[in-house]
Amino acid sequence: MSTDQNKFQAIISHCKEYGFVFQSSEIYDGLSAVYDYGQYGAELKKNIKDYWWKSMTQLHEDIVGIDAAIFMHPTTWKASGHVDNFSDPMIDNKDSNKRYRVDHLIEGHAETLSPEAGEALLAQMDELLKENDFAGLKTLIEENKIKCSVSGTVNWTEVRQFNLMFSTQLGSVTDEASEIYLRPETAQGIFVNFLNVQKTGRMKIPFGIAQIGKAFRNEIVARQFIFRMREFEQMEMQFFIRPGTQKEWYEKWKEERLQWHLSLGTDPAKYHFKDHIKLAHYADAAVDIEYEFPFGFKEVEGIHSRTDFDLKQHQEFSKKKLQYFDTEINQNYVPYVIETSIGLDRMFLLTICNAYEEQDLSTPEKADSRVVLKLPAKLSPIKLAIFPLTKKDGLPELAKELMNECKPFFHCYYEEKDSIGKRYRRQDAIGTPFCITIDHQTKEDGTVTIRHRDSMEQERIPLSEVRNLVLNKIV
Ligand code: GAP
Repeated sequence: MSTDQNKFQAIISHCKEYGFVFQSSEIYDGLSAVYDYGQYGAELKKNIKDYWWKSMTQLHEDIVGIDAAIFMHPTTWKASGHVDNFSDPMIDNKDSNKRYRVDHLIEGHAETLSPEAGEALLAQMDELLKENDFAGLKTLIEENKIKCSVSGTVNWTEVRQFNLMFSTQLGSVTDEASEIYLRPETAQGIFVNFLNVQKTGRMKIPFGIAQIGKAFRNEIVARQFIFRMREFEQMEMQFFIRPGTQKEWYEKWKEERLQWHLSLGTDPAKYHFKDHIKLAHYADAAVDIEYEFPFGFKEVEGIHSRTDFDLKQHQEFSKKKLQYFDTEINQNYVPYVIETSIGLDRMFLLTICNAYEEQDLSTPEKADSRVVLKLPAKLSPIKLAIFPLTKKDGLPELAKELMNECKPFFHCYYEEKDSIGKRYRRQDAIGTPFCITIDHQTKEDGTVTIRHRDSMEQERIPLSEVRNLVLNKIV
């Protein structure tokens, strides 16, 4: 196992041990590719959500947010193309009955080859995927003797399409008419509300509609922890524009979204763009923002130029006009759309992977180490930990006073158990940027020790300055 794989396993264990992520229904042996967020995970996830929401809506006067239902009229998915096209080419191994997504199977094999051979294989695969040449894909798998990881054989079925949408029944009558889907993307809730928002908000093109919400996909190959889940959350924004301006807006949103990622302090070398070779049925251009996870560069966000495909389809299927009258050019048209779509859970995983560090702090006298999450302070689940040095002499009372002063403004944590060193380590492990120790000197001169997570430096500051110091770092 490579060091990066070891690191990834350590991150997964850390997420569980410190209350960030648990396997769903773990006491029943879990549910594959479904996860729950624990006490610190839920906070971190909410902070990422808030950071995205604020930057997309509050800081963009031309974008408003909505919250559409997960269930939508079934015709939505016929119109959007998901009933007919939202599928992946799959192949089954006849000996193990294990099903694989064809691109994942070939990509996995490419990683075992030399860089040149791997690239050549992926180029062949991309060409065949683009042409929807399923027979060619099967031949490619057989010619390269790509084996099933379970049976070890090359006994493959034909390549088939497999729809990724979950369906369920609405109401008590089980007939075809009552079959509805769990949405596989949040975007359609925005498209069907385009006119409602445009009219009631008196929005002028160009403008955007943002949304955060759950999406569901019956992923066949669910790997890499919360990277690919069956129930996940998306943060999407559809930006409605005048036809013909899509190239310019596509470039603008590519840059803007990359800058959003970098604003969290991540090393730019950890990111790159990857253009789509096989475009989704709705797109005329698409690019992924990829981050270097411990298992390689992988997609975290997509920017898609969706043309007028979705609005036109909904117009046709609903028989309702979804047009905009542009007073500047005196024209009626169906707007074009640039979409930015980021997976919240993937952003969560990125944030944890980027923050996780194992540090050896040994000195010649003493072996020592720590695991620290160097989270951006604004995303940390707990912003400030407050420790009375001892449980007596009025120190807990002073610490509680500071808690009461700060907790209306940000999340604080109070602890009086164990040595200060142990308390620091526990906060390092969940990414708390600041710890305050109240000691006997506090009673004399009103100062406290503040300890900084990343540098581990400690300094004395007035107790009265603590709240503002933290507030300044987290806005
Ligand atoms: N509305 C466009 C759309 O849904 P997508 O590329 O299929 O595009 C957008 O998904 C983002 O949603 C991805 O970049 C990824 O971050 C996230 N995502 C997609 N499938 C996911 C899954 N199974 N588990 C977790 N996140 C997923």
